[in-house]
Amino acid sequence: MRALVVFVTLACFASAQHQALIDYLERRLLAIEDRISLWHEQTNRYASELRELKQQMVAQLENLDKEKETLRMNLDSVGTRVDRVEREMDYLEVQNGAQPCVDVDDKLLEQQVTLVKEKNKAKYAKLSDCRDMISNIKAMKILKRLGGSKGVWIKDVSSGSGKVYIFNGTDEDTIHEFASVHDFTSSPGTSLAKLLKLPFAWKGTGHVIYNSHVYYVKEEVEELMVVKYNLKSGSVADSAVFPVQDHLPVYSLTPETVIDLAVDEEGLWAIYATRQHERHISLAKMDANTLDIEQMWDTTCPRENAEAAFVICGTLYVVYNTKQPGRSRVQCVFDVNDMVTNDDAPLVYFPKRYGAHSSLKYNPLEQLLYAWDDGYQILYKLVMKKKLEI
Ligand SMILES: *[C@@H]1O[C@H](CO)[C@@H](O)[C@H](O)[C@H]1NC(C)=O
Repeated sequence: MRALVVFVTLACFASAQHQALIDYLERRLLAIEDRISLWHEQTNRYASELRELKQQMVAQLENLDKEKETLRMNLDSVGTRVDRVEREMDYLEVQNGAQPCVDVDDKLLEQQVTLVKEKNKAKYAKLSDCRDMISNIKAMKILKRLGGSKGVWIKDVSSGSGKVYIFNGTDEDTIHEFASVHDFTSSPGTSLAKLLKLPFAWKGTGHVIYNSHVYYVKEEVEELMVVKYNLKSGSVADSAVFPVQDHLPVYSLTPETVIDLAVDEEGLWAIYATRQHERHISLAKMDANTLDIEQMWDTTCPRENAEAAFVICGTLYVVYNTKQPGRSRVQCVFDVNDMVTNDDAPLVYFPKRYGAHSSLKYNPLEQLLYAWDDGYQILYKLVMKKKLEI
Protein backbone atom coordinates (compact mmCIF):
# COMPACT_ATOMS: atom_id res chain seq x y z
CA MET A 1 0.00 0.00 0.00
CA ARG A 2 2.71 2.38 0.84
CA ALA A 3 4.52 1.38 -2.24
CA LEU A 4 1.45 2.23 -4.36
CA VAL A 5 1.13 5.68 -2.80
CA VAL A 6 4.75 6.37 -3.57
CA PHE A 7 4.26 5.21 -7.15
CA VAL A 8 1.20 7.38 -7.72
CA THR A 9 2.99 10.39 -6.27
CA LEU A 10 5.92 9.77 -8.48
CA ALA A 11 3.68 9.36 -11.54
CA CYS A 12 1.88 12.60 -10.72
CA PHE A 13 5.17 14.34 -10.32
CA ALA A 14 6.40 13.00 -13.64
CA SER A 15 3.31 14.01 -15.52
CA ALA A 16 3.41 17.47 -13.96
CA GLN A 17 6.98 17.84 -15.17
CA HIS A 18 5.94 16.59 -18.58
CA GLN A 19 3.18 19.10 -18.78
CA ALA A 20 5.52 21.93 -17.94
CA LEU A 21 7.88 20.85 -20.69
CA ILE A 22 5.06 20.62 -23.20
CA ASP A 23 3.79 24.07 -22.20
CA TYR A 24 7.24 25.48 -22.57
CA LEU A 25 7.67 23.91 -25.99
CA GLU A 26 4.31 25.18 -27.12
CA ARG A 27 5.16 28.72 -26.08
CA ARG A 28 8.40 28.51 -28.02
CA LEU A 29 6.62 27.16 -31.05
CA LEU A 30 4.09 29.97 -30.87
CA ALA A 31 6.85 32.52 -30.63
CA ILE A 32 8.64 30.99 -33.61
CA GLU A 33 5.40 30.94 -35.61
CA ASP A 34 4.87 34.61 -34.74
CA ARG A 35 8.29 35.46 -36.00
CA ILE A 36 7.83 33.40 -39.14
CA SER A 37 4.63 35.20 -39.95
CA LEU A 38 6.36 38.50 -39.25
CA TRP A 39 9.10 37.56 -41.71
CA HIS A 40 6.49 36.56 -44.25
CA GLU A 41 4.85 39.90 -43.88
CA GLN A 42 8.13 41.70 -44.18
CA THR A 43 9.21 39.67 -47.20
CA ASN A 44 5.91 40.36 -48.88
CA ARG A 45 6.29 44.03 -48.16
CA TYR A 46 9.84 44.06 -49.54
CA ALA A 47 8.75 42.14 -52.61
CA SER A 48 5.98 44.57 -53.36
CA GLU A 49 8.25 47.55 -52.75
CA LEU A 50 10.75 45.98 -55.13
CA ARG A 51 8.03 45.49 -57.69
CA GLU A 52 6.98 49.13 -57.40
CA LEU A 53 10.57 50.24 -57.72
CA LYS A 54 10.99 48.08 -60.80
CA GLN A 55 7.89 49.57 -62.35
CA GLN A 56 9.16 53.09 -61.64
CA MET A 57 12.53 52.23 -63.16
CA VAL A 58 10.91 50.81 -66.27
CA ALA A 59 8.81 53.95 -66.65
CA GLN A 60 11.88 56.16 -66.23
CA LEU A 61 13.89 54.10 -68.69
CA GLU A 62 11.11 54.48 -71.21
CA ASN A 63 11.19 58.22 -70.63
CA LEU A 64 14.94 58.27 -71.09
CA ASP A 65 14.61 56.33 -74.32
CA LYS A 66 12.07 58.83 -75.56
CA GLU A 67 14.29 61.75 -74.61
CA LYS A 68 17.27 60.10 -76.30
CA GLU A 69 15.20 59.70 -79.42
CA THR A 70 14.14 63.38 -79.47
CA LEU A 71 17.74 64.40 -78.81
CA ARG A 72 18.89 62.30 -81.73
CA MET A 73 16.23 63.78 -83.95
CA ASN A 74 17.25 67.28 -82.88
CA LEU A 75 20.91 66.50 -83.56
CA ASP A 76 20.03 65.07 -86.95
CA SER A 77 18.17 68.20 -87.92
CA VAL A 78 20.99 70.44 -86.62
CA GLY A 79 23.44 68.32 -88.64
CA THR A 80 21.35 68.73 -91.77
CA ARG A 81 21.17 72.46 -91.18
CA VAL A 82 24.95 72.73 -90.71
CA ASP A 83 25.44 70.75 -93.92
CA ARG A 84 23.07 73.05 -95.74
CA VAL A 85 24.80 76.19 -94.42
CA GLU A 86 28.17 74.76 -95.47
CA ARG A 87 26.84 73.95 -98.92
CA GLU A 88 25.40 77.46 -99.17
CA MET A 89 28.72 78.94 -98.11
CA ASP A 90 30.53 76.87 -100.70
CA TYR A 91 28.03 77.97 -103.29
CA LEU A 92 28.48 81.63 -102.31
CA GLU A 93 32.24 81.23 -102.41
CA VAL A 94 32.01 79.76 -105.88
CA GLN A 95 29.56 82.47 -106.97
CA ASN A 96 31.54 85.35 -105.51
CA GLY A 97 34.88 83.78 -106.04
CA ALA A 98 36.30 82.05 -109.02
CA GLN A 99 34.41 83.53 -111.91
CA PRO A 100 34.68 87.28 -111.46
CA CYS A 101 38.16 86.77 -110.09
CA VAL A 102 39.34 85.00 -113.24
CA ASP A 103 38.53 87.88 -115.52
CA VAL A 104 39.17 90.71 -113.14
CA ASP A 105 42.44 89.31 -111.90
CA ASP A 106 44.14 88.88 -115.25
CA LYS A 107 43.22 92.39 -116.29
CA LEU A 108 44.05 93.60 -112.83
CA LEU A 109 47.44 91.98 -112.87
CA GLU A 110 48.36 93.37 -116.27
CA GLN A 111 46.95 96.79 -115.38
CA GLN A 112 48.78 96.87 -112.11
CA VAL A 113 52.06 96.12 -113.79
CA THR A 114 51.73 99.23 -115.97
CA LEU A 115 50.24 101.22 -113.13
CA VAL A 116 53.17 100.33 -110.96
CA LYS A 117 55.59 101.44 -113.61
CA GLU A 118 53.85 104.77 -114.07
CA LYS A 119 53.04 105.53 -110.53
CA ASN A 120 56.03 104.09 -108.79
CA LYS A 121 56.68 107.21 -106.78
CA ALA A 122 53.11 107.71 -105.68
CA LYS A 123 52.83 104.04 -104.76
CA TYR A 124 55.91 104.12 -102.56
CA ALA A 125 54.70 107.22 -100.81
CA LYS A 126 51.50 105.40 -100.06
CA LEU A 127 53.23 102.19 -99.03
CA SER A 128 55.50 103.82 -96.52
CA ASP A 129 52.68 104.80 -94.20
CA CYS A 130 50.68 101.70 -94.80
CA ARG A 131 48.02 100.92 -92.24
CA ASP A 132 46.11 98.12 -93.96
CA MET A 133 45.01 94.93 -92.31
CA ILE A 134 43.04 91.98 -93.67
CA SER A 135 39.34 92.13 -93.23
CA ASN A 136 38.39 89.13 -95.35
CA ILE A 137 39.25 86.84 -98.23
CA LYS A 138 37.14 87.93 -101.15
CA ALA A 139 37.90 85.35 -103.80
CA MET A 140 39.95 82.33 -104.66
CA LYS A 141 41.27 81.39 -108.04
CA ILE A 142 42.94 78.07 -108.82
CA LEU A 143 45.35 78.73 -111.66
CA LYS A 144 47.01 75.43 -112.29
CA ARG A 145 48.26 72.17 -110.88
CA LEU A 146 51.98 71.85 -111.39
CA GLY A 147 54.56 69.99 -109.33
CA GLY A 148 54.59 68.13 -106.05
CA SER A 149 52.70 68.54 -102.81
CA LYS A 150 54.99 71.28 -101.46
CA GLY A 151 56.44 74.32 -103.11
CA VAL A 152 56.24 78.07 -103.70
CA TRP A 153 55.02 80.14 -106.58
CA ILE A 154 55.47 83.91 -106.74
CA LYS A 155 55.86 86.93 -108.89
CA ASP A 156 58.78 89.27 -108.61
CA VAL A 157 57.53 91.84 -106.12
CA SER A 158 58.14 95.47 -107.05
CA SER A 159 60.14 95.03 -110.25
CA GLY A 160 56.87 95.09 -112.17
CA SER A 161 58.16 92.51 -114.64
CA GLY A 162 55.06 90.31 -114.29
CA LYS A 163 57.18 87.15 -114.48
CA VAL A 164 56.05 84.10 -112.55
CA TYR A 165 58.46 81.78 -110.72
CA ILE A 166 57.86 78.21 -109.60
CA PHE A 167 59.90 76.61 -106.81
CA ASN A 168 58.79 72.96 -106.92
CA GLY A 169 59.67 70.89 -103.82
CA THR A 170 61.48 71.78 -100.60
CA ASP A 171 65.04 70.77 -101.46
CA GLU A 172 65.80 71.62 -105.10
CA ASP A 173 67.95 74.09 -107.00
CA THR A 174 66.10 74.73 -110.27
CA ILE A 175 63.34 77.32 -110.67
CA HIS A 176 60.88 77.57 -113.56
CA GLU A 177 60.39 81.11 -114.89
CA PHE A 178 57.30 82.02 -116.94
CA ALA A 179 57.13 85.33 -118.78
CA SER A 180 53.62 86.10 -117.47
CA VAL A 181 50.65 84.67 -115.59
CA HIS A 182 49.10 83.97 -118.97
CA ASP A 183 52.12 81.92 -120.09
CA PHE A 184 52.01 80.04 -116.83
CA THR A 185 48.34 79.11 -117.06
CA SER A 186 48.33 78.36 -120.78
CA SER A 187 51.57 76.38 -120.84
CA PRO A 188 51.13 72.61 -120.97
CA GLY A 189 53.10 71.66 -117.84
CA THR A 190 56.35 73.60 -117.80
CA SER A 191 56.86 73.71 -121.57
CA LEU A 192 56.84 77.54 -121.80
CA ALA A 193 59.17 77.94 -118.83
CA LYS A 194 62.79 78.94 -118.75
CA LEU A 195 64.89 76.92 -116.31
CA LEU A 196 67.08 78.81 -113.85
CA LYS A 197 69.58 76.87 -111.80
CA LEU A 198 70.53 78.42 -108.46
CA PRO A 199 74.08 77.99 -107.11
CA PHE A 200 72.76 76.19 -103.98
CA ALA A 201 69.65 74.14 -103.23
CA TRP A 202 66.93 75.89 -101.29
CA LYS A 203 65.57 74.55 -98.02
CA GLY A 204 61.84 74.51 -97.24
CA THR A 205 59.36 77.03 -98.64
CA GLY A 206 60.89 80.25 -97.35
CA HIS A 207 61.90 81.96 -100.61
CA VAL A 208 60.74 85.26 -102.08
CA ILE A 209 61.61 87.31 -105.12
CA TYR A 210 62.03 91.04 -104.58
CA ASN A 211 63.50 93.64 -106.92
CA SER A 212 64.84 91.00 -109.34
CA HIS A 213 66.59 89.08 -106.58
CA VAL A 214 65.78 85.66 -105.19
CA TYR A 215 66.09 85.59 -101.40
CA TYR A 216 66.30 82.06 -100.13
CA VAL A 217 67.48 79.93 -97.26
CA LYS A 218 70.35 77.48 -97.48
CA GLU A 219 71.01 75.05 -94.67
CA GLU A 220 74.61 74.59 -93.54
CA VAL A 221 75.81 72.17 -90.86
CA GLU A 222 75.29 74.40 -87.85
CA GLU A 223 73.75 77.52 -89.28
CA LEU A 224 71.33 78.96 -91.77
CA MET A 225 72.37 81.25 -94.60
CA VAL A 226 70.16 83.75 -96.34
CA VAL A 227 71.26 83.96 -99.97
CA LYS A 228 70.46 86.89 -102.23
CA TYR A 229 70.72 85.89 -105.89
CA ASN A 230 70.57 88.39 -108.71
CA LEU A 231 68.25 87.09 -111.44
CA LYS A 232 69.50 89.61 -114.02
CA SER A 233 73.20 88.92 -113.68
CA GLY A 234 72.75 85.28 -112.68
CA SER A 235 75.07 85.51 -109.68
CA VAL A 236 74.98 85.64 -105.89
CA ALA A 237 74.76 89.28 -104.84
CA ASP A 238 75.18 88.67 -101.13
CA SER A 239 74.73 86.09 -98.43
CA ALA A 240 74.59 86.26 -94.65
CA VAL A 241 74.43 83.90 -91.72
CA PHE A 242 71.06 84.26 -90.07
CA PRO A 243 72.09 85.27 -86.56
CA VAL A 244 70.12 82.82 -84.41
CA GLN A 245 71.23 79.61 -82.79
CA ASP A 246 69.24 76.45 -82.13
CA HIS A 247 66.70 77.20 -84.81
CA LEU A 248 63.56 75.05 -85.09
CA PRO A 249 61.07 74.49 -87.91
CA VAL A 250 58.80 77.53 -87.91
CA TYR A 251 55.49 75.77 -88.51
CA SER A 252 54.65 72.38 -87.01
CA LEU A 253 52.61 71.41 -90.10
CA THR A 254 55.30 72.45 -92.64
CA PRO A 255 58.42 71.15 -90.87
CA GLU A 256 60.77 71.60 -93.86
CA THR A 257 60.69 75.38 -93.49
CA VAL A 258 63.26 76.69 -91.04
CA ILE A 259 63.10 80.36 -92.05
CA ASP A 260 60.16 81.75 -93.98
CA LEU A 261 61.01 84.94 -95.83
CA ALA A 262 58.21 87.38 -96.59
CA VAL A 263 57.79 90.66 -98.40
CA ASP A 264 55.29 93.34 -97.51
CA GLU A 265 54.83 97.07 -98.10
CA GLU A 266 57.77 97.77 -95.80
CA GLY A 267 60.26 95.32 -97.27
CA LEU A 268 61.82 92.01 -96.29
CA TRP A 269 60.93 89.96 -93.20
CA ALA A 270 62.10 86.64 -91.76
CA ILE A 271 59.73 84.39 -89.83
CA TYR A 272 61.62 81.84 -87.73
CA ALA A 273 61.73 79.93 -84.44
CA THR A 274 64.41 79.11 -81.87
CA ARG A 275 64.76 76.75 -78.94
CA GLN A 276 64.92 79.73 -76.52
CA HIS A 277 61.36 80.68 -77.40
CA GLU A 278 60.38 77.29 -78.71
CA ARG A 279 56.59 77.32 -78.44
CA HIS A 280 56.14 80.54 -80.37
CA ILE A 281 57.10 82.08 -83.68
CA SER A 282 59.67 84.87 -83.89
CA LEU A 283 59.85 87.65 -86.45
CA ALA A 284 62.72 89.76 -87.80
CA LYS A 285 62.79 92.78 -90.09
CA MET A 286 65.64 92.53 -92.58
CA ASP A 287 67.32 95.09 -94.76
CA ALA A 288 66.78 93.79 -98.30
CA ASN A 289 69.96 95.50 -99.55
CA THR A 290 72.47 94.39 -96.94
CA LEU A 291 70.66 91.37 -95.39
CA ASP A 292 71.21 92.96 -91.95
CA ILE A 293 68.65 92.31 -89.24
CA GLU A 294 67.03 95.58 -88.24
CA GLN A 295 64.87 94.37 -85.36
CA MET A 296 63.58 91.10 -83.85
CA TRP A 297 60.40 90.19 -81.99
CA ASP A 298 59.23 87.11 -80.11
CA THR A 299 55.56 86.89 -80.99
CA THR A 300 52.71 85.31 -79.06
CA CYS A 301 51.73 83.10 -82.01
CA PRO A 302 52.20 79.36 -81.34
CA ARG A 303 54.08 77.10 -83.77
CA GLU A 304 51.78 74.19 -82.98
CA ASN A 305 49.37 73.50 -85.88
CA ALA A 306 50.69 76.47 -87.87
CA GLU A 307 51.08 75.74 -91.60
CA ALA A 308 52.21 79.07 -93.04
CA ALA A 309 52.34 82.82 -92.36
CA PHE A 310 52.70 86.12 -94.16
CA VAL A 311 53.26 89.78 -93.33
CA ILE A 312 51.09 92.71 -94.39
CA CYS A 313 51.95 96.27 -93.33
CA GLY A 314 54.12 95.08 -90.47
CA THR A 315 51.52 92.64 -89.14
CA LEU A 316 52.31 88.94 -89.04
CA TYR A 317 49.35 86.68 -89.88
CA VAL A 318 49.80 83.03 -88.89
CA VAL A 319 47.64 80.45 -90.63
CA TYR A 320 46.61 77.31 -88.75
CA ASN A 321 45.19 74.00 -89.88
CA THR A 322 44.81 70.50 -88.49
CA LYS A 323 47.01 67.45 -89.07
CA GLN A 324 44.28 65.96 -91.22
CA PRO A 325 44.07 69.00 -93.52
CA GLY A 326 40.85 70.88 -92.86
CA ARG A 327 39.92 74.49 -93.20
CA SER A 328 42.87 76.89 -92.95
CA ARG A 329 42.36 80.03 -90.93
CA VAL A 330 44.30 83.06 -89.71
CA GLN A 331 44.14 82.54 -85.99
CA CYS A 332 46.98 84.62 -84.63
CA VAL A 333 48.25 88.04 -85.57
CA PHE A 334 51.20 90.01 -84.29
CA ASP A 335 51.60 93.68 -85.20
CA VAL A 336 55.06 95.16 -84.72
CA ASN A 337 53.42 98.58 -84.36
CA ASP A 338 50.97 97.33 -81.69
CA MET A 339 48.00 98.70 -83.60
CA VAL A 340 46.31 95.34 -84.10
CA THR A 341 45.85 92.88 -81.28
CA ASN A 342 44.68 89.33 -81.52
CA ASP A 343 41.31 90.37 -80.12
CA ASP A 344 40.45 92.91 -82.78
CA ALA A 345 41.81 90.88 -85.69
CA PRO A 346 39.05 89.09 -87.56
CA LEU A 347 39.14 85.30 -87.66
CA VAL A 348 39.74 84.86 -91.40
CA TYR A 349 38.82 81.51 -92.90
CA PHE A 350 40.21 80.39 -96.23
CA PRO A 351 37.70 78.95 -98.69
CA LYS A 352 37.09 75.30 -97.97
CA ARG A 353 39.48 73.00 -99.82
CA TYR A 354 40.60 70.36 -97.34
CA GLY A 355 44.15 70.98 -98.39
CA ALA A 356 47.23 72.29 -96.66
CA HIS A 357 49.17 75.39 -97.64
CA SER A 358 52.86 74.65 -97.87
CA SER A 359 53.39 78.35 -98.62
CA LEU A 360 51.42 81.60 -98.62
CA LYS A 361 53.25 84.55 -100.18
CA TYR A 362 51.83 88.05 -100.07
CA ASN A 363 52.32 90.39 -103.00
CA PRO A 364 51.92 93.95 -101.66
CA LEU A 365 51.52 95.51 -105.11
CA GLU A 366 48.51 93.36 -105.95
CA GLN A 367 47.24 92.62 -102.43
CA LEU A 368 47.06 88.96 -103.43
CA LEU A 369 48.24 85.85 -101.66
CA TYR A 370 50.11 83.31 -103.79
CA ALA A 371 49.37 79.91 -102.28
CA TRP A 372 50.68 76.41 -102.97
CA ASP A 373 48.11 73.89 -101.83
CA ASP A 374 49.03 70.26 -102.48
CA GLY A 375 50.43 71.02 -105.94
CA TYR A 376 47.73 73.56 -106.87
CA GLN A 377 48.75 77.16 -107.50
CA ILE A 378 46.07 79.38 -106.02
CA LEU A 379 45.50 83.13 -105.72
CA TYR A 380 43.55 84.60 -102.84
CA LYS A 381 42.20 88.08 -103.24
CA LEU A 382 42.13 90.01 -99.98
CA VAL A 383 39.76 92.66 -98.71
CA MET A 384 41.59 95.18 -96.58
CA LYS A 385 40.55 97.73 -94.01
CA LYS A 386 42.42 100.35 -92.02
CA LYS A 387 44.03 99.15 -88.84
CA LEU A 388 42.25 101.58 -86.57
CA GLU A 389 38.76 101.06 -87.98
CA ILE A 390 37.60 98.18 -85.88
C1 LIG B 1 58.15 68.52 -108.76
O1 LIG B 1 58.83 67.82 -107.76
C2 LIG B 1 58.41 66.48 -107.60
C3 LIG B 1 59.15 65.90 -106.45
O2 LIG B 1 59.22 66.79 -105.39
C4 LIG B 1 58.66 65.71 -108.88
O3 LIG B 1 58.16 64.41 -108.75
C5 LIG B 1 57.97 66.42 -110.04
O4 LIG B 1 58.31 65.79 -111.24
C6 LIG B 1 58.37 67.86 -110.10
N1 LIG B 1 57.58 68.53 -111.12
C7 LIG B 1 58.06 69.42 -111.93
C8 LIG B 1 57.12 69.99 -112.94
O5 LIG B 1 59.22 69.77 -111.91
